[in-house]
This record gives sequence, structure tokens and C-alpha cells, in this order.
Amino acid sequence: MAFLDVDELWLLTNQHKQIEDTKKLYEMVARRAENEPYEYIVNSVSFYSERFYIAAGALIPRPETELLIDAVLKEKPNLDEEINFVEVGIGSGIISIILALKYKNATFIAVDISQDALNIAQINRDKFGLQKRIELRLGSLLECVDEKIDYLVSNPPYIEDGIELESNLAYEPQNALFGGEVGDEIINKLLDDVLSRNIKFFSCEMGYDQKGKISYYLKDKNYKNLAFYKDLANFDRGFTLRL
Ligand SMILES: C[S@@+](CC[C@H](N)C(=O)[O-])C[C@H]1O[C@@H](n2cnc3c(N)ncnc32)[C@H](O)[C@@H]1O
Repeated sequence: MAFLDVDELWLLTNQHKQIEDTKKLYEMVARRAENEPYEYIVNSVSFYSERFYIAAGALIPRPETELLIDAVLKEKPNLDEEINFVEVGIGSGIISIILALKYKNATFIAVDISQDALNIAQINRDKFGLQKRIELRLGSLLECVDEKIDYLVSNPPYIEDGIELESNLAYEPQNALFGGEVGDEIINKLLDDVLSRNIKFFSCEMGYDQKGKISYYLKDKNYKNLAFYKDLANFDRGFTLRL
């Protein structure tokens, strides 16, 4: 279907037709046989019921990241609220874009250290007509954001450096996956920023084994609430910190 760019109904009603450009089809099949992710081959991915452009250069959105959106919605149920969001590590743009579609009065500054990722995020942002509300910035963490932040959201790289991953993950940008020698370095830096800049809300995805370490990191710190959430496989997957 992706190859022909048609829907299921078209396939059912046009079964007698033959594919003309078989060369391109075989090329796509050969790429898949090398374990390249399907989404990179067809340049398309679904997230939170919307379709996004995707290509090598940005992480393929994962279904569990939809729970990060739900965590924000739970914290801020008033969709009319004017909120200054900042996202660190926008990748393909899915988180800021879905939140911008939900919160019509919110603005976003979205940062990434990868220009390739920002180029892909820009295609998606423009496709949804959100140029006026989502500003893209090249930079590391919050270094390029001086503005007041109401809500920080992030799905940062959080895997320990050097861990051997499945072969299909080799196609994805490694700086989107690995978070440092221990894995929690970027999360901890974001926590430091949240505390030092007094950012009232921070929702963040994390690895299934990071709950204890994050709780420990925050144990003597001053905050109002720390609530972890699990994914559908019952693994710890993220948290919201409220100051
Ligand atoms: C796990 S991906 C998340 C992408 C996207 N938000 C999503 O959920 O699919 C992490 C992203 O963080 C970016 N990143 C890594 N280190 C960063 C840093 N120090 N500052 C800003 N972005 C960073 C990567 O380039 C990557 O796009």
C-alpha cells in the first residue's frame, strides 16, 4: 500500500492490475531484508493517530511515547490554557506537534542537537501549519533557551553507552538513543535545570530501570510531587515532576 500510495479499498477493487515499477518495489524489499526499519523505507510513521514524515536522521517514534503526551494531558487538563512549553530533543517533532494540536493557545520552543532531526521536524511542523507556534532551535539541552518555561517535556536519549542493541536500531541516530556512560546523564542534567530555573512542570520519558536512580537523585531536593507512570507492558517508562 505504501509503495503504490493507495488505500486498502483500492487494493481490493484493483486486484487485476499489475505493478509496473517492480524495480523500485524490489529495492524496497531488499532494504527491508537488510533489517532497515519499515518506517524509514516508506518515509511514514503513525503517532497518536496522526501521520508523520520520517527519515533516517530522526528517531522513529515509539508507541510508548504516546504515554508522555497522556502524562502532560493529565497534569494540564485545561486545553485552553496559555502554556510556554519547551521540548528538549524534538527528533521528528511528534511530541510538540501533538501537544500543539491539543493546546491551541500554547507556544513551543523545541531544541535538538541534530540538524538532521530538526530538518525532519520542520517538514512535519509545516505540514500541520504550526510554524507560528513551534520554534525550532539547534542547541544542547536548555543552553539556547533564556525565555520563561512553564512546562518542560522531553524524551531524551537514556540508554547506557555501549549496550549492544538489536540490528535494526543501528539505522537510527545513535545520539538519539545513548544518554551517556550510565544512561541517566541527560535526564539528570534536565532535572538540574528544572530545579535551578524553577520550572514548575517537567514530564519525561525514561528507561524501565531508571525509576530508583531518579528518585534517589531527587531525594534531598525541593519539589512538590514526583509521579512515575508505566507503559502497557507494565515497565516504568516516565515521570512528571512538579515543583
Ligand atoms: C529519544 S530521541 C526523541 C525524539 C522524539 N522527541 C521522539 O520522542 O520520538 C532523543 C532526541 O534528543 C536529541 N538529543 C540528544 N542529545 C541532546 C542534547 N544534549 N540536547 C538536545 N537534544 C539532544 C537527539 O538528537 C534526538 O533527536
